Formats: sequence, C-alpha cells, structure tokens
Amino acid sequence: MHTTALFSAFMAGLAAASPLSLTQRQFQGNYPPRTTADAFKLVANISTPSNIFDPPVNNWFLSGVHVGAGLNAAILVPTLNTSATFFINGTGRDVSAQFTSIALPPIKFQGGATPLGLRFPPLEGQQNPVNLGLNFGPGNTGAGVVGGLRSPWAQAFTPYPYFIVCNETQPAYGRPQHAVKVAPSAESIPDNCVAVTFLAQCAALPEGVFEGEGVEELNIHHVGAPCYEDVGAIDWSRYD
Ligand SMILES: *[C@@H]1O[C@H](CO)[C@@H](O)[C@H](O)[C@H]1NC(C)=O
Ligand SMILES: *[C@@H]1O[C@H](CO)[C@@H](O)[C@H](O)[C@H]1NC(C)=O
Ligand SMILES: *[C@@H]1O[C@H](CO)[C@@H](O)[C@H](O)[C@H]1NC(C)=O
Ligand SMILES: *[C@@H]1O[C@H](CO)[C@@H](O)[C@H](O)[C@H]1NC(C)=O
Repeated sequence: MHTTALFSAFMAGLAAASPLSLTQRQFQGNYPPRTTADAFKLVANISTPSNIFDPPVNNWFLSGVHVGAGLNAAILVPTLNTSATFFINGTGRDVSAQFTSIALPPIKFQGGATPLGLRFPPLEGQQNPVNLGLNFGPGNTGAGVVGGLRSPWAQAFTPYPYFIVCNETQPAYGRPQHAVKVAPSAESIPDNCVAVTFLAQCAALPEGVFEGEGVEELNIHHVGAPCYEDVGAIDWSRYD
C-alpha cells in the first residue's frame, strides 16, 4: 500500500518533470538485483498484512479464469505452472511514453492468430474498482512494467493507481476466487479487498510465439521487460 501510494505520487510527479531531470534521476539505496527478459510472470506482493485471505496470497501469480467467449477474468493462483506469461507490446518509444500494453502469447488456430492482452476500461469517470481481463484482442495501452530510470522496482502499472485482490465468489462460477481488479482511488477499495503490487518475475516465451500464419498481421512489437529471477525468494528485510 505504502509503496503503491508512493509510486502513484512519483508517477504524478513524472508528468510535471522536465525530460532533463528525468534522465538524470537516480535511485539511491539498496534494491534487489534485477535483470531483463523476453517475458514475465506477475507476482502479487502484499506490503500491508491482511487477514482477508486464508492462506495469505502473498507471492501468488496472476492468471486468468474463463468467464465467457474470449473473456478471462484476472485471478491469483498459487503455482507458477498455472500462471499466465506476459510480454510487453510496444516500441522503445512507447516504453518511454508509457504507451505499451501487456500482452499474452497469441492463440494460433487453423491458420489464424488471435491476440490476447490485459484489458481494463478507461480510467476516466470510474468511481469503483473494475475487473481486469486477460481477453481476446490487443491489450489496452497505458500498461507495462517500470524499472530502470523510472522506479527502483520492476513493477506493473496501468492508468489506475491501485491493483487490488478481493475475497469474493465472482467471477468464476460461484467458486471462492481471488479476483484481481484495478481501483481508481484508495477510498474505492472495498473491505473484502487488499491493495497489491505486481512485481515482474522473469520468464521465457514459448518457442516460435511470433511465427506462423496470421501472426505478422497482429503487428506485435515485442520489447524486453525488467524483472526479478524469483520474487518469492526476495528477502525484503535486506532492502529499503
Ligand atoms: C513487498 O512486500 C514486502 C512485505 O511482504 C515489503 O516489505 C516490500 O516493501 C514490498 N515491496 C514492494 C516493491 O512493494
Ligand atoms: C474469504 O473470507 C471468508 C470470511 O472471512 C473466509 O472464510 C474465506 O476463507 C476467505 N476466502 C479465501 C479464499 O481466503
Ligand atoms: C504445478 O506445480 C505444483 C507444485 O508447485 C504441483 O503440485 C502440480 O502438480 C503442478 N501441476 C501441473 C499441472 O504440472
Ligand atoms: C501491439 O501493439 C500494436 C500497436 O503498437 C497494435 O497495433 C497491436 O494490435 C498490438 N498487438 C497485440 C497482440 O497486443
């Protein structure tokens, strides 16, 4: 929570900062070692202890659960092997402008290819949290992973200031789920939800993901993302 608020404040400051001060910005202090990879997993880091989940969902992974044709609602899952693999779609210039999207490997079927991406409604006018989708179609722009000059953490962002995880039965067929949403303000976070930060954990893309019939038409511009080797293994007591 604390880090997310700080991060939002920083992002707000960014808009006002001159390009010169931006390139000169440096982060003082001690941070976990980071690298860059083709793809990543998104790992929930909960800074504020919460008793709304049993077991606690710290270090669980973002994934999608099928909720309709071409629609997958974002949830948390406990194991790496059931988590989603993401990549950043955009050019280097898009990265600088935070105009990238978070995509998933396209689905190839019968000589065609369907893009998949992280979907969310526009922030403007939103008063309440909204579900994140891992849906058919390109991901919404304005989402990506920061790192390097912008933030000391390799963490996911969207136009919304908060990611939250909720203890509720929606969206999947009435089973208790860990629904992941984005929230437009701290006040809008319901009692059955907790704010989380999503940190990027390095992953590999499946072989040949950008090859094959129909893929070129998807206009994918793949760029590497900052990430950690193993988020769950980070000993936070050693860092600022
Ligand atoms: C991750 O969570 C730990 C507590 O479990 C906290 O100390 C640390 O600051 C968090 N890191 C980030 C980048 O949010
Ligand atoms: C959700 O909250 C209820 C009531 O506090 C609790 O019994 C249940 O175990 C929680 N569900 C999860 C998935 O943690
Ligand atoms: C996924 O990994 C867990 C352990 O982390 C293991 O128990 C489970 O069998 C694995 N599932 C699959 C489908 O490989
Ligand atoms: C990738 O981004 C481009 C715009 O740069 C867009 O045209 C395309 O649909 C996106 N593709 C995917 C798979 O997200």
